[in-house]
Amino acid sequence: MTAATPPNQSPTERRVSARIGSISESATLAVDAKAKALKAAGRPVIGFGAGEPDFPTPDYIVEAAVEACRNPRFHRYTPAGGLPELKEAIAAKTLRDSGYAVDASQVLVTNGGKQAIYEAFAAILDPGDEVIVPTPYWTTYPESIKLAGGVPVPVVADETSGYRVSVEQLEAARTERTKVLLFVSPSNPTGAVHSRAQAEEIGRWAAEHGLWVLTDEIYEHLVYGDAEFSSLPALVPELADKCVVVNGVAKTYAMTGWRVGWIVGPKDVVKAATNLQSHATSNVSNVAQAAALAAVSGGLEAVAEMREAFDRRRRTIVRMLNEIEGVTCPEPEGAFYAYPSVKGVLGREIRGRRPATSVELAEVILEEAEVAVVPGEAFGTQGYLRLSYALGDEDLVEGVSRIQKLLA
Ligand SMILES: Cc1ncc(COP(=O)(O)O)c(C=O)c1O
Repeated sequence: MTAATPPNQSPTERRVSARIGSISESATLAVDAKAKALKAAGRPVIGFGAGEPDFPTPDYIVEAAVEACRNPRFHRYTPAGGLPELKEAIAAKTLRDSGYAVDASQVLVTNGGKQAIYEAFAAILDPGDEVIVPTPYWTTYPESIKLAGGVPVPVVADETSGYRVSVEQLEAARTERTKVLLFVSPSNPTGAVHSRAQAEEIGRWAAEHGLWVLTDEIYEHLVYGDAEFSSLPALVPELADKCVVVNGVAKTYAMTGWRVGWIVGPKDVVKAATNLQSHATSNVSNVAQAAALAAVSGGLEAVAEMREAFDRRRRTIVRMLNEIEGVTCPEPEGAFYAYPSVKGVLGREIRGRRPATSVELAEVILEEAEVAVVPGEAFGTQGYLRLSYALGDEDLVEGVSRIQKLLA
């Protein structure tokens, strides 16, 4: 939505600035809020909207936070860029999980992956700089690019390629103004994972053209079957000087509410982003940083258990969605989202209505089946739905059964 600002208005007459007025509401949070409101009003709504694990944060992480609460040292500000011991632990974890050797001075601890993305784009983009955004994209990317004055350039990959963009497509979108390639594998909203060879080819292409890369690795530990996570700056070391990695504890350790993420990048960019954060929000909550320290310096047993549950739900949801006539769901290999095409359902009569778009179909599904899903329009592609399978097994089966019945 754009808050129209007639050019003849004086500054005092303008209410919301054009820059901030042009930001769209987060569609995923909006769907989640609508589902929660209906639930609070007593409706038996099942929500596939939110991208958050249904597990509690592991005990040892919670205990670390409880201890920190009792220790006055953690009642104070930390340096804006984060607790020094957490930055060291993030550097060590990056080497352990990605094979990418970095120094603690290349780390900035942020209020979740979202702030990391916002600050990274703010630190590297000038007005008019273009960012190639593989599409379907996660809703936050284009908004943070635009806030930084950049221009998102969508490159669409559909279900026929398993939602994976090719180097040929990327090259066709490159112009003299292209500064950054956004890369996210596993992806939200599609769950697509690029193979090591595909990721390397894309990384080499970016390096060859001197592009910057912002790579979002937040789902690194949620890959299934034979799929493998690979980190671009480890695969293509010559990218490192122009590569910003975004990551966080939210998805790996079921810590969405704790709000701890980070940037790993070249020192000058990390310094600039730290300066921005020092004026915007200062440090991340000291207690939450203590919890994140326990998370990243501990083992990966808890995420292995969650991965097993997600994998089971993934297989169930893909099978059940593909049973619906007109729905095609490629198998997601990572994260916890299914992104079926519903183009074969649009225009069909459903309880006296004829949804023509995925937004309208999502509305019919919510109203008639009491199931909340996010329409593909939120992710830049019409004719799709996103269903998060990070919910309990029973709810998952019940929710998709309701959609099956509605669309039968
Ligand atoms: C691809 C991707 N990156 C980053 C984030 C940000 O996570 P948070 O801000 O909760 O750390 C999310 C959350 O949904 C995501 O899906």
